[in-house]
Amino acid sequence: MAAVGITARGVAMTFRTRGQTNTVLESLDIRIAPSSFVSLLGPSGCGKSTLLKILGGIMKPSAGEVRIGDESAQDAVRNREIGLVLQRPALLPWKTARQNAAHLRMLAKGDKKASLAAADEALELVGLAHAADKLPHELSGGMAQRVSIARALAMDPSILLMDEPFGALDAITRDAMNESLAQIWAATGKTIVFVTHSISEAVFLSDVVHVMSANPGRIVESIEVDVPFPRTEASFELPEFVAYSNRLREWLHPSERKAA
Ligand SMILES: Nc1ncnc2c1ncn2[C@@H]1O[C@H](COP(=O)(O)OP(=O)(O)OP(=O)(O)O)[C@@H](O)[C@H]1O
Ligand SMILES: [Mg+2]
Repeated sequence: MAAVGITARGVAMTFRTRGQTNTVLESLDIRIAPSSFVSLLGPSGCGKSTLLKILGGIMKPSAGEVRIGDESAQDAVRNREIGLVLQRPALLPWKTARQNAAHLRMLAKGDKKASLAAADEALELVGLAHAADKLPHELSGGMAQRVSIARALAMDPSILLMDEPFGALDAITRDAMNESLAQIWAATGKTIVFVTHSISEAVFLSDVVHVMSANPGRIVESIEVDVPFPRTEASFELPEFVAYSNRLREWLHPSERKAA
């Protein structure tokens, strides 16, 4: 499917639990361009996952409006335009990598042959064609997460939502996954919305980083990352990369800014 953008206006989210109201997001506006890579960066509990679900039409906000392309968020979900990758890959243990990658598409469309073909193509894209017949327990954490990305890609969504997809991986695997994801993004031109705690991950991957603050969650700064693509290990050394990282660090750790 062609990549589309997301526009959210006046989004608010209030949870009511056991008589308590908790306003998690308040009057939040965001515009995400088609085919862009956008990160949501902020402290734990500031509402990143909540915002991601709202942007993807998976959760209905208490107030405000979300448009995905020229559709309502609900229609986009109904038309299966949203791909989801979470921190844990949640693979079916009795299915091979290939069957797992085909699974959601098969459920949605019931076309076994086309689903397996889409799974093969997606596994190729995530660099796992060689492991297509392995079972989940035979895969490393990074490989399992690649399968979960392939599962989302096999649906050919217009938008890929990723919630700390590499948060459970070791640093070396994480770096490799980031390079792969950058290549996948370049190859597919999908619109990707990516939640992370990691400043360097956000700068490495993104066109735009939206920094969120907590209580209530708002976007306090949106930074366009003007570091040339394709980005590689060498990008980390560029003075502008360091400058963006420092600027983001100041937003996330204001006490360090005061101390400096
Ligand atoms: N379904 C829910 N019902 C009640 N409260 C919720 C619900 N989902 C989230 N919250 C609350 O909303 C706040 C933000 O949660 P959210 O998961 O969006 O944060 P986050 O920024 O993704 O955090 P983390 O970085 O730890 O994943 C938290 O205070 C959480 O307790
Ligand atoms: Mg979260």
